[in-house]
This record gives sequence, structure tokens and C-alpha cells, in this order.
Amino acid sequence: MNIFKKPFIKICALILLPSAVIAQQVPVAQQSSVKGKPKQISNDLFGVFFEDLSYAADGGLYAELVQNRSFEYNPADKKIWTPLSYWEYTTQGHGYGKISVESSSPIAPTNPHYLVLDVDFPGTEGVGITNSGFDGISLKNGENYDFSVYLKQLSGAPAKIKVELRDHKGVSYGQLSLMVSGKGWKKYTGTIKATNDADSARLSVLTLLKGKIAIDEVSLFPRKTFRNEKNGLRADLAQAIADIKPKFVRFPGGCLVHGDGLDNIYRWKKTIGPVEFREQDRNIWNYHQSFGLGFFEYFRFCEDIGAKPLPVIAAGVSCQNSGGTRGTGQQAVAEIDMKSYTQDILDLIEYANGPVTSKYGAKRAAAGHPKPFNLQYVGIGNEDKITGNFRSRFQQIYQAVRTKYPAITIVGTVGPFPSGEDYDLGWSFAGQLHVPIVDEHYYQKPEWFLSNNNRYDNYRRTNSKVYIGEYASQGNALINAISEAAYMTSLERNGDVVQMASYAPLLANLSHISWNPDLIYFNNKAMFKTANYYVQQLFSQNQGDQYIPDVVKFDLHGSAKDSTLAASCVKDSPTGDIILKIVNAGQKEANAAIDIAELHVRDSHISFDLLKGSPGDKNSISNPENVKPVKSEMDISVLKDYIVPAYSLTVIRLKTK
Ligand code: AHR
Repeated sequence: MNIFKKPFIKICALILLPSAVIAQQVPVAQQSSVKGKPKQISNDLFGVFFEDLSYAADGGLYAELVQNRSFEYNPADKKIWTPLSYWEYTTQGHGYGKISVESSSPIAPTNPHYLVLDVDFPGTEGVGITNSGFDGISLKNGENYDFSVYLKQLSGAPAKIKVELRDHKGVSYGQLSLMVSGKGWKKYTGTIKATNDADSARLSVLTLLKGKIAIDEVSLFPRKTFRNEKNGLRADLAQAIADIKPKFVRFPGGCLVHGDGLDNIYRWKKTIGPVEFREQDRNIWNYHQSFGLGFFEYFRFCEDIGAKPLPVIAAGVSCQNSGGTRGTGQQAVAEIDMKSYTQDILDLIEYANGPVTSKYGAKRAAAGHPKPFNLQYVGIGNEDKITGNFRSRFQQIYQAVRTKYPAITIVGTVGPFPSGEDYDLGWSFAGQLHVPIVDEHYYQKPEWFLSNNNRYDNYRRTNSKVYIGEYASQGNALINAISEAAYMTSLERNGDVVQMASYAPLLANLSHISWNPDLIYFNNKAMFKTANYYVQQLFSQNQGDQYIPDVVKFDLHGSAKDSTLAASCVKDSPTGDIILKIVNAGQKEANAAIDIAELHVRDSHISFDLLKGSPGDKNSISNPENVKPVKSEMDISVLKDYIVPAYSLTVIRLKTK
């Protein structure tokens, strides 16, 4: 039970209902002609949630094309994996030799394994190793691919190396040569221009002379990453996220954050600095994290797309579902270690915002970003079980951050569900500590989203604000997207309580799905945006900072309520634009009277976006544009009696300046 809300609902129902109840719940005959006052709503309402699950990072947003580039895969990631997974011994032209994985003299202790190639006879074309990438390497004819590798000559004459992109039939797509020099580890680089399109090429590194050589950190990036950045992001996926125009990006998860047991808690410090020194880890979703996409790259991406970063850090406890069948459950960082654990979180804030003269600000500058990243939000905990261990650790971190960085807004957590024990205990705990914002999660059916449209109407305005960190209506069909749209109008209406909201999860590699549904699906070559994506995009691109009530009134034909209809009206103060969103999740068209009389609209001809179709319509990799919004124009007089198509979202942007 939430002790903070109950009495409030009883006392305030009468006071709040006239302005808070949504238009569609009031029959036309009962509506007042006097408009309610506009209210300020959050400037950061709609953002995105990135979690490294379903190969969202390695094999996804992170543009690296070589899988297991540093031979760190192992059975802890996945039982059948070894340091040689996705690599194979290759001989071309009757050469022979052998490969082994060693760890006696690595590039760095944090990157312990490397491959040793011992060539007895190189044959006519060399002996070496071949990587199959993430389900094959996709290449575009004429584009450049940047290769790099660490090599160390162990015996024999300095090796001559051939690097080649080939398909499984041996057709070449381009190659380069390198000559090893010196005795120690050294980085070698080169570029291959692809001579054709390919979607399942492989990368071979072969030596052409007898001798022994150590190989590590074999990497291949398309030159064209997002904004052409080094160690960058896959351009199409990053652009799709940028095109949402999210106000914030939450990263790196989800459950990934609090991890599968104590040793798997996500440690941001392992993810910065030169990639070859980053200490890798297994992924709670049963694969591997190279951390090539680490906190520097997340911050840089946020800055690139004009979104606020929202890193989430474990609250000193691991996931309560840790251990799977081993069932270790929630584990807590030992009290004695909490000081240094908490210091890591303070260091993160210094890394993001501190001057270049500070220890961690200097590390940010060394990575090429002397300017601060302007971190404003930090999430502590992810849908944790609200236990004594959680409370004491959260409290220590919370007090330390508040004391050292009072300007940082802390986001707490209230369990995995929209109600229940952890939700109630979490809210009550957040109330005791006056946590500014708490993170609610829910994955529910479309009907739930329609019938819970009033969820936040009666939340107490003086309690913690809400971040809906994860929500989705369990499907990618149009009806799911439209139900989410209906719900999002209620988030705008309650944008004084709901500070932020993000659909989850964001990305899924079609060959490695850990969680459905997701917002964007992809394979190694292409991607598609779901109907849900377009809803997120339409709301996100059309955010406002003021909510104007009573503008849209549905004709309910005498009934008191129709939960399939919803609408909102916001104003974007900087542009002066008024934005209407009108949703019909029902099977019949509806009528809405849109009263813009007092809104000082400039033009008589207006353009609008319409997303509509049949409830089961979906996009797919082979039919990526089956459902998408269409832009049209209409005369403003149509708004007086706007016919709202069945299963639709209409977004209308009206100029006032
Ligand atoms: O979004 C997928 C998962 O759902 C997240 O990792 C977790 O926080 C939630 O249970």
C-alpha cells in the first residue's frame, strides 16, 4: 500500500477532477465552455532507454564489425564460448601451422588473452585466422573500412601480414598488407576499400612468413560511423535514435546495471580509456560486453543528439533474480566496501562535469572532451527489491551525492511493477528520503494502457516526481502503438508529475533477441522502425512545456466514458507552437470538437501527421514501411468537427507566431 497517496485521493478528488479528468471521460453535454488554465510541464518528458540486451551494443549500436576481437569470450558468457569463438584457423595455399590462446604477456592485465600464431610453412597465400563478425560482415561497395590490430613478433623473421575481406567461397572484397617491426606489442592500422557489396564477408589475418606472432585487439570499423566518429556508432541505428529527438538517453540498462551477482554489477570505470585496456565482462543477458561502447561513448552520443544523459548506477545491490537456477538472489556490496563503491559514483559525476584539472575531468579531457558533459540526472538502482540491504546502500549513495553535488537530480527506484510490494515500499522509502524522482516500470497489455489513462491524475503533486523508465504494451502491432499514444497523452496532461518517460527496450538484433517487443529491430545490414517507434517519435518531436486543458472534446454520444479516445494539447513556448495529439484506439471513427478560439493560431491552412491502419499492422525487415505516419494538409475549419479515424494518432502543429 502506498501510504502517501491514499488519503490524498479521497480528499482531493473533488478539487482535482474538473481540470485533471481527461476530455473523453466527460460527455459533451456536461462539458464546461470555460477552459482550464495552462500548466507548466516537464521540459524533459520524452526520451529513450538504451540497454545492452539483444546485442544492442556489441553487434548493434557499436559499429565494430569483428566479434570477440580481443579473444576474451569465455564459458562464463555462454557455456559453449571460448576465446576462439567466432574465429577459425585458416590456411590458404597448402601452408600449415597452429594457433593457441595465451595470457603470459598480454597488452594489459585487464585484457589478458591473445592469440599466438605459429607458422611452420606459410604456403603460397599464408596461414592465420578468420573472424566471421556478427552473423557475417556487411560491406558496401566503394566504402572504406578501418582496420587495426596489436601484433608482437615472438620468433622468426619479422612477419609480413595480409589482411583480407573474403566471403566463404574465397571471393575477395579487398585487402591490405602490414610488416611487423620491433619486439613488443605495437598497434598497426590500415584501410580496406570494399570492392563490392557483401552481407556475410569474413576478415582474415594471415602471415606470409615462417615464425611465431602474437595477435590481439583485431578491429574493423566502417569509416562512415555516426558523425564519422572514431570508435563510433553504427550510422543507421544512431541516426534512427537521433531522429526521435529524445530529450534524454538512459543507459546502460535495465537489469544490466545491477547485474547477475555482485561481480557482474556494471562498473563504469571499466568502460573508459583506450578500448584495449577496458576490462570486459559477461552480460546478464547471456553474452559478452566488450565495453567498446562505454561511458565516454554514451556521453558523447547524448551530446551529439542534443539529449541529456541519464546514467543509471546499481544501488550497491545486484539483481534480485541473480543466479538464475543457482538462485543467489539480491547480493549486497559489503558495508566495508561501500565507501569506495560510493566514491565511484561521485567520480562518475566528476568524470562528466569536473574541470580538466580534476582527476576524472582529466580522464574525460584525455579522451578528447575537455568540455563538461553537463550531467544533470543520475539514476540509483534499477527495479530493485526493497530490502534492508537496498535501503542502507541507497541511502549512503544518496546522501553522498546530495552532499557533494546538490545540483544533481537523483532518480530512485520503486520495483519492477506498476503496483505491489516493492512499488509501495519503494514509494514510501522515497518519501522518507525526499528522493526527487522515482523510476516506475511496467510492461502491460494495450487494454491496460487504455484503462489506466488516469493513473497519474491523482498522484500527489508534492511527492517525488515520476520517471517512467520502462514501459511497453507487449507488442509491435499498430494497436500497441496507438494504445501507447493514448497513454502518452496522459503523461503530457500529468507532465507536472511525470518528469520523464522512455519506452523500453530500444534496440534488438533480430538474430539475438533477449526481449520483445523493442522499438527498433536490425540485422547486420538493415534495420526497421516499429509502429511504436513512430509514436515515440511523433510525441518526442512535438513536446511542449505547457499543458492546455479542455481543447479537444470528443462526442461520446451520451456515454460517460470511452477509454479508446484520448487527446492532449501542449504549447512549446520557445516557438509559440500549439500541438494537438488526438488518439482513437477504437474500431469506429469518432468526432472531436477542437476549440482553438483562444489560442491565437496564425494560419488557416495547416499540416498534420497521421498514423493509422488496421490494428494488426506491423513493420518488418522485409516490409519496413508498412506502418508509418503520413503528412497531409487541411483547412483549419475542419478542426471544429474533426473526424478521428479508427486506430489512429493525429498530431497537429499550429503556428501562433
Ligand atoms: O527492458 C528489459 C528489462 O525489463 C530490463 O532490463 C529490466 O529493468 C526490466 O525488467
